[in-house]
Amino acid sequence: MRAVDLIQKKRNGGQLTTEEIQWLIGGYVKGTVPDYQMSAFAMATYFKGMTMAETRDLTMAMVASGDQLDLSAIPGIKVDKHSTGGVGDKVTLILAPLVTSFGVPVAKMSGKGLGHTGGTLDKLESIKGYQIEVAEAAFIKQVQDIGIAVIGQSEQMVKADKLLYALRDVTATVDTMPLIASSVMSKKIAAGSDAIMLDVTVGDGAFMKTVEEAEKLSRTMVDLGKEVGRQTIAVMTNMSQPLGQAIGNRLEVLEAVQIMQGKGRVDIRDFICQLAQIMLKLGGLEVGLDDIEQYLTQGQALKKFEELVAAQGGQVQDIYRPVKTKFVYEVKAEQSGYIAELPALYFGRFAMEIGAGRAVKSDQLDYDAGILFDKKVGDAVSEGELLAKIYSNQEIPQKKITEFAKNVTINNVKVHRKEILKIID
Ligand code: URA
Repeated sequence: MRAVDLIQKKRNGGQLTTEEIQWLIGGYVKGTVPDYQMSAFAMATYFKGMTMAETRDLTMAMVASGDQLDLSAIPGIKVDKHSTGGVGDKVTLILAPLVTSFGVPVAKMSGKGLGHTGGTLDKLESIKGYQIEVAEAAFIKQVQDIGIAVIGQSEQMVKADKLLYALRDVTATVDTMPLIASSVMSKKIAAGSDAIMLDVTVGDGAFMKTVEEAEKLSRTMVDLGKEVGRQTIAVMTNMSQPLGQAIGNRLEVLEAVQIMQGKGRVDIRDFICQLAQIMLKLGGLEVGLDDIEQYLTQGQALKKFEELVAAQGGQVQDIYRPVKTKFVYEVKAEQSGYIAELPALYFGRFAMEIGAGRAVKSDQLDYDAGILFDKKVGDAVSEGELLAKIYSNQEIPQKKITEFAKNVTINNVKVHRKEILKIID
């Protein structure tokens, strides 16, 4: 076989066979198919797409490119979750301990952030001492002992995704439906959980900009999961504004802790409770929303989060440490009315530029940098009232602060937002 023939076949809209896909991915991981040919293949896929059979073959070839975890030593139905990426997305920090506090084990491998989207691992690493690298046996033992572990994926798992994702990131091929589906599902399948809840984000701050695109991706991933015997549900969630109040690693840990103390915004609390209900059902438990809210706000979830932090070497007291930056900028409303829009992409990029995220993989993070919104879409606001605080260790020119304020749209109509747009199972 020759890579050039497979690229040509895809470019001309042909369907690759199982053997051809296995050969291509195998060759890419071995280094016999170079980056430039894989880039061309990714771009041909962007334009021509893939059939369901090709997407499944690609997913399984990626799973086979590295080690796979066997979680059978952990009793019960192991439930995993994955978000396709968002701004201010601290859901895992709250949801994983909440679900575990009901006795459903969560053995989770998370990722780092890149670009305007944040990563759970960065948020956890902002807690002093927290270790994301945990050996397989210790990972399994931790879930057996306390029901939860959140670690980074080992270098040996889904090697093809690590290479391909980095390549897609610099060749404008990240937002390619079959490549996203195979990237997400190969990692989830290799990570070994029995059931998977996918949080498919939709809107300005997500890869999928429309409900139609997100639904197509959701159906593909749900079908992939089912084909390999993993019960999979996709929840399409609204990412048109940042999630919750905080963007930035430490600020998000603090917001997560506040929510688990029964504080924080009610809309986020309700959203997390609904996701928890779906995850618990996947884990074999039918629990009412009132009971879930009680566990979330009365300390059970927080206790589990503290146990998680301690088990992975983190200093528990550090989760309560407030952020401290050289500069704190207050952004005030220029008029009265209701918040109509807070574009997630703009604010995600803003936070990244002041150090909360990475423009390129090698960038160092400033854990304390970020944005804390006082008002969200649908909230009433009076002229001169605080909209947001920006925490930064770099001085920010006034021009940028003015531009920040201009990106908060205020008008006279109260917008009602739905956080969960659709559930695909
Ligand atoms: N998240 C992933 O894990 N992979 C993608 O390709 C996109 C989002």
